[in-house]
Amino acid sequence: MSDTTERLHMSGIVKRFPGTVALDGVDLSVRAGEVHCLLGENGAGKSTLMKILAGSYQPDEGTILLDGEPYRPATPHAGLAAGIAVIYQELDLLPDLTVAQNLLLGRAPRLGPFVRRARRAGLAREALDRVGANFPVTTPVRELPIAARQLTAIAKALTADARVIVMDEPSATLGESELARVFEVIRSLTAEGRSVIFISHRMEEVMEIGHRATVLRDGRTAGVFDLSSTGPGELVAAMIGEAKELVRPTAHPAPEGEPRLSVERVHVPGLLDVRGIEVRPGEIVGLAGLGGAGRTTLLRALFGDIKAQVTARLDGVPLRPGSPAAAVRAGLALVPESRKEQGLMLGLSVSRNAAIAALGRPPWLMPGRTGRRITADALTALGVKSAGPGQLVGQLSGGNQQKVVLAKWITRGRIRVLLLDEPTRGLDVGAKADLYRQVRHLAGQGVAVLLASSELNELTANADRIQVLYEGRNVAGFDPRVSPESVIAHTVITGATP
Ligand SMILES: Nc1ncnc2c1ncn2[C@@H]1O[C@H](COP(=O)(O)OP(=O)(O)OP(=O)(O)O)[C@@H](O)[C@H]1O
Ligand SMILES: [Mg+2]
Repeated sequence: MSDTTERLHMSGIVKRFPGTVALDGVDLSVRAGEVHCLLGENGAGKSTLMKILAGSYQPDEGTILLDGEPYRPATPHAGLAAGIAVIYQELDLLPDLTVAQNLLLGRAPRLGPFVRRARRAGLAREALDRVGANFPVTTPVRELPIAARQLTAIAKALTADARVIVMDEPSATLGESELARVFEVIRSLTAEGRSVIFISHRMEEVMEIGHRATVLRDGRTAGVFDLSSTGPGELVAAMIGEAKELVRPTAHPAPEGEPRLSVERVHVPGLLDVRGIEVRPGEIVGLAGLGGAGRTTLLRALFGDIKAQVTARLDGVPLRPGSPAAAVRAGLALVPESRKEQGLMLGLSVSRNAAIAALGRPPWLMPGRTGRRITADALTALGVKSAGPGQLVGQLSGGNQQKVVLAKWITRGRIRVLLLDEPTRGLDVGAKADLYRQVRHLAGQGVAVLLASSELNELTANADRIQVLYEGRNVAGFDPRVSPESVIAHTVITGATP
């Protein structure tokens, strides 16, 4: 239960970057024992505000009180020592160290100069158990799937005995069951009087877990809401401002003709056995399923990114995706799930990143002007918010990085099949609409689209047909214009048609 004791008070926070004012006088007040949601469109300033709280950035103006005392951490280490733990959107674990080393980085139990390894492993194990993670603490983080890394990052916050725990979009990387586990952890943390600041673009989640919410818009506090008496519509209105309109899916002719992509079978022993999926030019086929049902594996297999037996045809010609490079030559494009690892070069500019696939040569050999010219349209159409095409991708907000990944393939053109894996994770409502509009536009040019998403409502709104994957097999196909969402959801969960 939340009481009304004020745990954290940030007021008048200003943060300027060259060319942008990221925060322009933000106020945020969080109570002890409260789950406080921080909401706002992509680029609104949520992550920047949390980096200031953590001690990663210094504010240009403003003050912070923590339990009534002035607080101004010079480094993340100082922030953590004062009881602030931040789990970043782009997780900051060290991939070459083990889980246990990461969990107790700089805080390992010691005996004189020696790390007490067994004790460290024990503490790490306890923390992992608390978040319901069962992988060994000796695993190098590099070898963990993305959801397991997210759990590791949360466990790390637990070992720090923090007063305020910030979770920057955990649901962007977690599956449904992992998220349920994280919600349990959040509830037990707040029951102990700790405060949680929770960032998410998914309103159902916010309504489920949050007590109050602060909405940021363009670097300012647009409102503070009590979630027991506020609806999601009101929150979204505060985020986007009244003027902007959200697009609804437009009616379009049902695609016909010969299949562009015709998958007879994709087989990865022990993991995946999918048969008989066809996608016509102009068609968007949605892939629904629970976490681990095989959607990502299917897309990666088709893209030649993992070893698999693929029997498929592209415009009637056998498709042999031996490697991603071969797949790209054949006209396939994949927007992967984890943009940080697979999609972008964070140290290069927005336009160079977006131009990479189009030019097919190392981006540093490309004249900057060429990059800016050929990418301008795609970046504008997707509404990428940056200080300019020369800004480094690593400096964009998480959602805007995701848009650059798609801009890359739009710029390239010549795509025959577009494979999208959870493309809207981390995107705000308006940005989702922009993205689907672009995907439909690509389809309109004859591209065949396979779209994997955990958001069933997005699939029913945007896909022409939906295939449901369950435990590695495609168990049913639906026409979302005919089948109600509840029926499809039943199949997603049980693997059987009602
Ligand atoms: N290191 C940086 N250098 C320059 N600009 C930056 C830097 N970090 C953030 N920005 C800019 O500050 C603004 C706010 O970004 P921030 O990451 O805080 O947004 P956000 O609300 O977390 O968005 P998202 O929902 O997409 O994660 C953006 O315009 C971003 O490009
Ligand atoms: Mg962010």
